[in-house]
Amino acid sequence: MESMETPKAVKARDSFTTGLGVIAATLGSAVGLGNIWKFPALTGLNGGAAFIVVYLLSTLMAGLPVMIAELMLGRRSKSDALTTFRVLHPKRETWSLIGAAGVLSAFLILAFYTEVAGWVFAYIFKAASGSILSADPKVTSAAFEKLIADPVQSVFWQCAVIIFVGAIIVMGVSKGIEKTTKRLMPVLFLILVMIGVRSLMLPGAAQGLDFLFRPDFSKVTGAVVLTAMGLAFFKLSVGMGTMITYGSYFRDDQNVPMTALRVMLADLTVSILAGIAIFPAVFSFGFKPEAGPSLLFITIPAVFSQMPFGNVFVVLFFVLGAIAATGAMLSIMEVPVAYLHQRFGVSRFKATAATGTLLALIGSTAALSNSVLANFKLFGMTMFDLYDFLTSNLLMPVGGLFICIFVGWVWGEQKVRGALSNDGTLRNGAVISIFFFLVKYVAPITIGVILLRGLKII
Ligand code: PHE
Repeated sequence: MESMETPKAVKARDSFTTGLGVIAATLGSAVGLGNIWKFPALTGLNGGAAFIVVYLLSTLMAGLPVMIAELMLGRRSKSDALTTFRVLHPKRETWSLIGAAGVLSAFLILAFYTEVAGWVFAYIFKAASGSILSADPKVTSAAFEKLIADPVQSVFWQCAVIIFVGAIIVMGVSKGIEKTTKRLMPVLFLILVMIGVRSLMLPGAAQGLDFLFRPDFSKVTGAVVLTAMGLAFFKLSVGMGTMITYGSYFRDDQNVPMTALRVMLADLTVSILAGIAIFPAVFSFGFKPEAGPSLLFITIPAVFSQMPFGNVFVVLFFVLGAIAATGAMLSIMEVPVAYLHQRFGVSRFKATAATGTLLALIGSTAALSNSVLANFKLFGMTMFDLYDFLTSNLLMPVGGLFICIFVGWVWGEQKVRGALSNDGTLRNGAVISIFFFLVKYVAPITIGVILLRGLKII
């Protein structure tokens, strides 16, 4: 019975069509503002190389196993993030709460992500017109303040981004997401390498490299470790259903662990390249690396406008940011859209319109948190900061923890072996054994301990 039904269901479902498309879309999800906005900002704030080491360890011990687990679950169930758990464990509906939390996270992440993306899109035009370019950080800082403190501009750019991403989502998984990311990813690498080379050629660049690559562990506290792990989850787009959803569009002969490993390495390369593009320039012109989130919008225009052809490089930099952000936003928005589409049978257009509208409402509370809502705080944070903190430092790690428990302890080794080797390409049982050990013991313990320490519970 089942085997007669499955092929039909699979065929009717839109999915990624080629191996290259799978990599482009998955990498498109991983690479984003996380690489060029969060990674440099957090590295600059938390002591450079030492932070990168902790981030790398959390990626290997927690992020990567969760990524493989999610892709595997999605590919097996061929369903959205919520339905996946219903399909794989029909007796206990409670597991689908992981997917429900994922849909919630998707909205909260997009709420601030579309806002930052909105600034990036706006900066392409502002850089091209020259209005944000100055060697004086006071001037670039005033220009940035002017943008974020303007409620109309903030909401306008955010809505523009939502409509742009929504339009691609409506086109579908293969014709929208896959096609777009396949075109954009090579451009992204090209621009990044160009900017990196330019930055390295500046006098005094070595100091920036030193900062990036020489660790100072004195800055590493429990909270910093949690931030690094949060970044690992955020970077690999795991713990909130994105990779379950994308896994459901994978072909059955796709090697899941290998795909995850490749994407993780390529994503890391982008982050390091972004660091190489940014820090040498920052040091070369005598700026401080600890600018935090404003590094991208205040320091970069000030630094780059001092180099020959600087204005071209600033425009390129924000084009790069826009490309990166687009692939990531597509994958986040796909989580609720896939759910609405599959579960309630509504068209992709309607699902996207509903998601976009709700998102614009929630998102405006983040967009206005530098103007009208600047004094509206919960737990001492503006809505923008709260959404960021809640998702990276809480919802995604907790989601990842439950995914590990589900795969390692509920679903069990036999099903994992079946799900990972059914494609015939993964003959190496040792890979599965290592993965299973990581997902059953190493990842959940790591996540649990870091969460409890980081939140000062133990
Ligand atoms: N990985 C993306 C980035 O680094 C962000 C993201 C988070 C994407 C969660 C999907 C899901 O920008």
